[in-house]
Amino acid sequence: MRPRVYVTRMIPSQGLDLLGAECEVEVNPLDRVLARDELLARVRGRHGVLGLLTDRIDAEFFDAADCLRGYANYAVGYDNIDLAEATRRGVPVSNTPGVLTEATAECAWALLFAVARRVAESDRVMRSGRWQGWGPLQLIGADVRGRTLGIVGAGRIGTAMALMSRGFDMKVLYANASGRANAVLEAELGARLAPFETLLAESDFVSIHTPLTPETRHLFDARAFRAMKPTAYVINTARGPVINEADLVQALKSGEIAGAGLDVYEFEPATAGGLCELENAVLLPHVGSATVSARQGMSVLAARNLLAMLRGERPETCLNPEVFKP
Ligand code: DGY
Repeated sequence: MRPRVYVTRMIPSQGLDLLGAECEVEVNPLDRVLARDELLARVRGRHGVLGLLTDRIDAEFFDAADCLRGYANYAVGYDNIDLAEATRRGVPVSNTPGVLTEATAECAWALLFAVARRVAESDRVMRSGRWQGWGPLQLIGADVRGRTLGIVGAGRIGTAMALMSRGFDMKVLYANASGRANAVLEAELGARLAPFETLLAESDFVSIHTPLTPETRHLFDARAFRAMKPTAYVINTARGPVINEADLVQALKSGEIAGAGLDVYEFEPATAGGLCELENAVLLPHVGSATVSARQGMSVLAARNLLAMLRGERPETCLNPEVFKP
């Protein structure tokens, strides 16, 4: 019997083709996230599920997915999953690291430039017909070259983002929850591991790349924004709840910091009151990995992972390999 697999939303076809060669595959045909009761009903009787960062994978999900042999997350971030619960039940879980590293780092740079050089705001001026011609004091932004870049969370994506600063001759600081040195950044850029408070105080651009954990939830709150320079910018392509968004709105309104470039939000798809009215915030709809190659890579990796789990094998990028130990 071919294993039965459920895919909670349409993904690029490459992964679906791989799954289809070995499994009975059903894909959510609706162009939206499934409601909770829909998700729980659809996963009953499936051997494998390929799901999204918007699906909550917890005890209730595992109760509903009564035949589950593996869950593949179509995302590198996995704060949507109760991993301890999966492990307790012996269900292997995978994510999609690596394939979206460069795309997400490039997105962080897009936000950095957009907010520093007021790109979105200038675009609005043009489209509204308000532009009256060149002016020496118009839409003046911040320099990037030679400034200090602070990377919070120097893992794969944080490292890639920092390495892309090479053309801009920046001083790079980084902070890691583990406190471990990043040999690549130190050798390639002369980057310096700094305490979080030092990084906040010295950086002109602070780019967030840390996963969401109980320790990093609201790492950026009113106190953190007060510790930053009033000329500094914060960029977030990681997870929204790392920032207390109401505190960010206050910091942007009061001029405590100069601006923010955000791809992720505390309560997606909602945004904190007032955020959308601020000219010094550039807002993207969680598109960090939205390039053709990254999304195809995620699709293929998630599918390969799920196929391995259905065969009882350890997937390439397993989040709880201990379930395979004898
Ligand atoms: C992830 O993979 O965690 C991103 O947020 C979406 O690609």
